[in-house]
Amino acid sequence: MTKKEPSNLMRKSASALFADSATDQGDFLTALLDPQPRGNAVLWTVPRRAGELETVDRSTLPVWLPDKVELLQPGVKIGLSPAYLAGEIYSLDYSSVLAGSAMLAARTGLPESPQVLDLCAAPGGKSLLASVLLKPRLLLSNEVEAKRLGILRHNLSRCRVANAWTQRLAPEELASLAPLAFDLCLIDAPCSGQSLLAKGIENPGCFHPSTVKGNARRQLWILEAGARTVAAGGYVLYTTCTFAPRENEGVIGKFLAKATDFEVIEVPHLAEWSSPLADFPGYRFYPHQIAGAGGYAALLRRKGNRNDEPATTGRGDLPPPLLDYPVVPSPREVEAS
Ligand SMILES: C[S@@+](CC[C@H](N)C(=O)[O-])C[C@H]1O[C@@H](n2cnc3c(N)ncnc32)[C@H](O)[C@@H]1O
Repeated sequence: MTKKEPSNLMRKSASALFADSATDQGDFLTALLDPQPRGNAVLWTVPRRAGELETVDRSTLPVWLPDKVELLQPGVKIGLSPAYLAGEIYSLDYSSVLAGSAMLAARTGLPESPQVLDLCAAPGGKSLLASVLLKPRLLLSNEVEAKRLGILRHNLSRCRVANAWTQRLAPEELASLAPLAFDLCLIDAPCSGQSLLAKGIENPGCFHPSTVKGNARRQLWILEAGARTVAAGGYVLYTTCTFAPRENEGVIGKFLAKATDFEVIEVPHLAEWSSPLADFPGYRFYPHQIAGAGGYAALLRRKGNRNDEPATTGRGDLPPPLLDYPVVPSPREVEAS
């Protein structure tokens, strides 16, 4: 097979991201152009059963990694495993776990069972992470694309996520219906998806400036709307699966320039992936450095204290139509006696 050559746009992007390291530039491009099999992460929705799946040695994983997360050996598929068929595990890219794990840093100052909105939720990976890591008293998983709602509801039901509802609203509409109502808003934003290349998925034009610019504009709208749903002292976790600074640090920077009531928060356990591309905290995951395909995360907090706001929380604060579509956990199979 002939070796793929990077386009000029990819080369330009690699040299901007790794200005000081020709080695990183080359390794990054190789990870995108000649992707090797990767192991997906697995999230247990029940207590983890060690040794049941073909996973990498736990001692090679970060010590802070939640007990319910494992990393499969490269190329291992789990779709026919008993745990999967029983709805006990969910598989997702390892970078989604790293980026999503920033929500652990949001636990400080949140109620023990927070009220969580997942604004861009399908197929459900971040909602499942939130359910396992934070045990929300209410999880509203919103997906604007009708054709992706089915898979979202299926995954939440299959994995028996508790206290969950779904919706299909534009972010601005949701923000108008539920201002200041959530403790945490997850925004796993639609993006140019440059990291898909590291999974061997074709994504033509993902480095093109017009693709990046269009996504950045949409991401800022979504972030501004999501921020409106969060109470004082509450958090927004912004994540993408792309490397373009304009869609990551650029969006956060533009948001902060206007939203002076928000600040960006450090996530100490992600320090080794700190982005050098901005003067506020943010985390970059690259496919030549981690097991996952890559992405970005930044954790924001609305300044103040949740007691400052009269309008906060409790299911009763959400207008009833928002909770019209409960997720019904799939029944557990009755064991044959
Ligand atoms: C990266 S995916 C989300 C992945 C999901 N959070 C997970 O972990 O499984 C981004 C989602 O945003 C949705 N989306 C597209 N345009 C949107 C918009 N204007 N506002 C909100 N969400 C949008 C897409 O349909 C897609 O499901």
